[in-house]
Amino acid sequence: RAFFRPLQQAAPPSPTKRQIKISVIGTGNVGMAIAQTILTQDLADELALVDAKPDKLRGEMLDLQHAAAFLPRTKICASPDYAVTAASDLCIITAGARQIAGESRLDLVQRNLALFREIVPPLARYSPDALLLVVSNPVDVLTYIAWKLSGFPPNRVIGSGTNLDSSRFRFLLADHLEVNAQDVQAYMVGEHGDSSVALWSSISVGGVPVLSSLEKHQIAYEAEVLESIRKAVVGSAYEVIRLKGYTSWAIGYSVASLARSLLRDQHRIHPVSLLAKGFYGIPDDHEVFLSLPARLGRGGVLSVANVQLTDEESNRLRSSAHTLWEIQRQLGI
Ligand code: NAI
Ligand code: LAC
Repeated sequence: RAFFRPLQQAAPPSPTKRQIKISVIGTGNVGMAIAQTILTQDLADELALVDAKPDKLRGEMLDLQHAAAFLPRTKICASPDYAVTAASDLCIITAGARQIAGESRLDLVQRNLALFREIVPPLARYSPDALLLVVSNPVDVLTYIAWKLSGFPPNRVIGSGTNLDSSRFRFLLADHLEVNAQDVQAYMVGEHGDSSVALWSSISVGGVPVLSSLEKHQIAYEAEVLESIRKAVVGSAYEVIRLKGYTSWAIGYSVASLARSLLRDQHRIHPVSLLAKGFYGIPDDHEVFLSLPARLGRGGVLSVANVQLTDEESNRLRSSAHTLWEIQRQLGI
């Protein structure tokens, strides 16, 4: 304080703006990709980190703090004790086992269910008004589990879902059409996994619906090209895991885009994992979380977009819902 002398009759400080606090649980590949993207995009005034490995956790905190000269001022704290997350606006859960080559996301459910029983109750206790954003896999089932264990209303419990798959879909479509991926609107919905559903009718480039435009101009589009793109999206994670052992950068940017829409109350539409019962013919007793295009804001899921699905797309969505419901029923949550 000796270095600075206040101006005479300094005006009283303006009321502090709402400080935004984000907690990231799990400081592994994904948690740290998310943490550094939150910092570079200036999404929080305070970032709290939690992990079960104290040395790794402290090392990651110090390493991020040492970048302070290059980043917007953000308070960064870390502890294995969930008290460090108190009064968070958004809690992002990335803790958990990840797939090894050859494993599916659903193979992780038992291991990560056990972790969620440890993680979710203290998070909910320390931040009863927070938004929960689940990333750990299988993300749809674990988002359901986080909803049940937290006792939060469903609009405040969201899974990153097919926000990432849709980004991969847009990248591959943009590459095929030689346009910028940000000018391609396209959704994958349903399970973040092997049964995700490509919404062909949702594809538009620069606002022009692609398939109806092709049909209108009687341009035969190669249906097999579209299916090959869908298969490439579903196979993306397996290919990256086979090559580098895990995925991290794309999910980091995907989750940061969700955090921005939620905390800055952007009302943007993202395909995220939400309580899908009652939508598109999913039975009301199937309390499953699946990705549907949703309007996101400070209150979490503000509404679900009523996109038009073909019969085949609806059937595949309902089949995916049934698969997840059967898995959930065996968990006894
Ligand atoms: P990782 O192994 O690098 O990190 C997991 C971290 O969780 C470790 O640092 C570990 O110490 C921590 N952890 C384990 N048990 C804990 C507990 N009880 N409390 C606090 N921390 C605990 O794994 P990675 O690559 O970061 O993946 C994490 C999860 O994210 C996996 O389940 C993976 O499948 C999932 N994932 C999900 C994506 C999505 O699109 N939804 C994309 C990429 C990964
Ligand atoms: C993905 C897996 C790991 O990157 O969920 O999509």
